[in-house]
Amino acid sequence: MRQSLVIANWKLNGDLNLIETMVSGLMASATELTSDVVICPPAIYISALRDAISTAASTAASISIGAQNCSENSSGAFTGEIAPAMLAEVGCEYVIVGHSERRSIFHESDAIIANKVNAVQQAGLTPVLCVGESLEQRENNETIDVVTAQIKAATVDVDSTKLVIAYEPVWAIGTGKTATAEQAQEVHHAIRTYLRSCMPNGDTIALLYDGSVKADNAAQLFAQDDIDGGLIGGASLNTDEFRAICSAVKG
Ligand code: PGA
Repeated sequence: MRQSLVIANWKLNGDLNLIETMVSGLMASATELTSDVVICPPAIYISALRDAISTAASTAASISIGAQNCSENSSGAFTGEIAPAMLAEVGCEYVIVGHSERRSIFHESDAIIANKVNAVQQAGLTPVLCVGESLEQRENNETIDVVTAQIKAATVDVDSTKLVIAYEPVWAIGTGKTATAEQAQEVHHAIRTYLRSCMPNGDTIALLYDGSVKADNAAQLFAQDDIDGGLIGGASLNTDEFRAICSAVKG
């Protein structure tokens, strides 16, 4: 049985008010939610999110906390960095690793991403590994090769029982362009086939779709056989829209 999961990636957005309204909005509709829900706010707000969840946590909804990034190092002279164990200490369970914005804007290489995946797992957390192709790579029919190479590079020595993978066609991130449900399923299926071939539990790793998911396209994407939920950027900043997306996952 694979985990159904919707993860909010707030990026450099949100504030204390959004934390309060999002947590109370999700808790109020706990019975409608068909997936596990994770919120990844900017790191400075993680403790406030934890407090808001524990204050509201009398109902059925379970909201987990994630981080958008972490250091590959556990301690030392790395100004501005946050170690995975520090994230664990303040209540995080997941860390997004290898997001296309980290790869392109912050020049994170496959080697750095592999180190982060291992560091996250060593701290007892679950990495959400993002992989995806550029428009040019898609047009050159390189999509499957690119995503499988990214997974291979990032999962050396990985514990595959504690891993989530998000497929993000880079051309669909924040652009309003979404892969069609068929395009997304085709890549998810190829990823699933690859995981089955090289990991003993390849069948049970949760695979999320990531790229301009909205309330009005979520159900169609999530209905696909190999799509277990989503990683949601812009649409996770609006409580009603995010709640609708969390309720669109097949139960
Ligand atoms: P988007 O972002 O939903 O705004 O396209 C998703 C992401 O980058 O994780």
